[in-house]
Amino acid sequence: MSNVKKVLMATQGPEFSQLVQGYWRLGAWEMSPQQRLTFLKQHVELGISTVDNAAIYGNSEQLFGEALALDPSMRDQIQIVSKFGINGIAAEIGEKRVSHYDSSKSLILSSTENSLKRLGVEQLDALLVHRPDFLMDVDVVAETFAELKASGKVKHFGVSNFSASQFELLQSRLDEPLMTNQIELNPINFGVLEDGTTDQLQRLKVRPMAWSCLAGGDIFSAETDQARRLRGTLLELQTELSANSIEQVIFAWVLKHPSNPVALIGSGKIERVKEAMGALDLKMNTEQWYRIWTASKGHGVA
Ligand SMILES: NC(=O)c1ccc[n+]([C@@H]2O[C@H](COP(=O)([O-])OP(=O)(O)OC[C@H]3O[C@@H](n4cnc5c(N)ncnc54)[C@H](OP(=O)(O)O)[C@@H]3O)[C@@H](O)[C@H]2O)c1
Repeated sequence: MSNVKKVLMATQGPEFSQLVQGYWRLGAWEMSPQQRLTFLKQHVELGISTVDNAAIYGNSEQLFGEALALDPSMRDQIQIVSKFGINGIAAEIGEKRVSHYDSSKSLILSSTENSLKRLGVEQLDALLVHRPDFLMDVDVVAETFAELKASGKVKHFGVSNFSASQFELLQSRLDEPLMTNQIELNPINFGVLEDGTTDQLQRLKVRPMAWSCLAGGDIFSAETDQARRLRGTLLELQTELSANSIEQVIFAWVLKHPSNPVALIGSGKIERVKEAMGALDLKMNTEQWYRIWTASKGHGVA
C-alpha cells in the first residue's frame, strides 16, 4: 500500500500525486526505451502517477513518448504536465538571435501540438506557462487556453515561476482557476515564502508544485558556508527524526509548508524516489523546521 496520496491541486482539479516525477534530466539518465518504461511503471506502482515535462527539456518529451509507446495502457494511469514559453520553438520557425520568452498564440498552439506529438498522447492533463513573459498579453493567452480546452488538447492550465501579481493578472482573464504555480522551493532557495507567492496560493487554495527540492543536488555538494551549515543541521535532524537520509529531511521540510506543495523528484534512480517517499511519514516539528531555516540564513529569527 503506497503512502503517496492523490491530492486536489485547485478547487476544480486536477488530482495529482503528492510526489511528482520530474523528467527534466531524462536525457542524462542514458536509459534504453525499455528502461525508461520500467522506471515509469515502478514509480507509478509506488503511487507517483504525475509526471512533469516541458517543451524546453531537450529531447525529454521525445524519450518519454518512446517509452510510453511500448505500453500505451500506461497513459491512463498517469497525469502529464508540460510547459511552453521558453524560446524553444523559435529554432523551428526561423532564425533567433537571443533566448527569449514567447507567449503568442502561434507559439502556444505550436508548442502544445509539438509536445503532444513528442509524447505520443492526445491530451495534456496540465499545461503551464514556464516563465513569466514580459510581453505576455493575458487576453491572448486566455483566448488560446480556451481554444486548447475546447479542442480537448489540454485539461487544465497553470503557471510556473510567476509572482503573485503575475498570477493574479492572468487569473483575472480566465474562467477557471489556474491549477498551480510551479516554483522553486528548497532550503537554499525559498524566496517564494517571503515575497507573497505562497501566501497567495494558500489564500486561493491552489497547491504549488515545488521544483528542485534538493536544489538540483547543490545541498549535497556545494562548498559554500550556507550549504555546509545546512548539511550539518540536516544530519542532526536525520538522527533526531530517525530518517534514512538527509534527502528525506529536506523533502519533509518542503512538504511541511502550509501551502501544501506537491514535491517534484528530480532523480531517475528508483532508490532515490523511494527515499523521497519516506519523507511523507516523517513528523517534523516547528522548531526543527526553523532549525533548517536558521542554518540556511546563518542567523535566527528576530
Ligand atoms: N518550472 C521550472 O522552472 C523548473 C525548473 C527546474 C526543474 N523543474 C522540474 O523539477 C524537477 C526536479 O528538479 P531537479 O532535477 O533540479 O530536482 P532536485 O531533486 O533538486 O535535483 C536532482 C539532482 O540532484 C541529484 N541528487 C539527488 N539526490 C542526491 C544525493 N543524495 N546526492 C547527490 N546528488 C543527489 C540528482 O542526481 P541523480 O540523478 O544522480 O539521482 C539530480 O541530479 C525537474 O525534473 C523538472 O521537472 C522545473
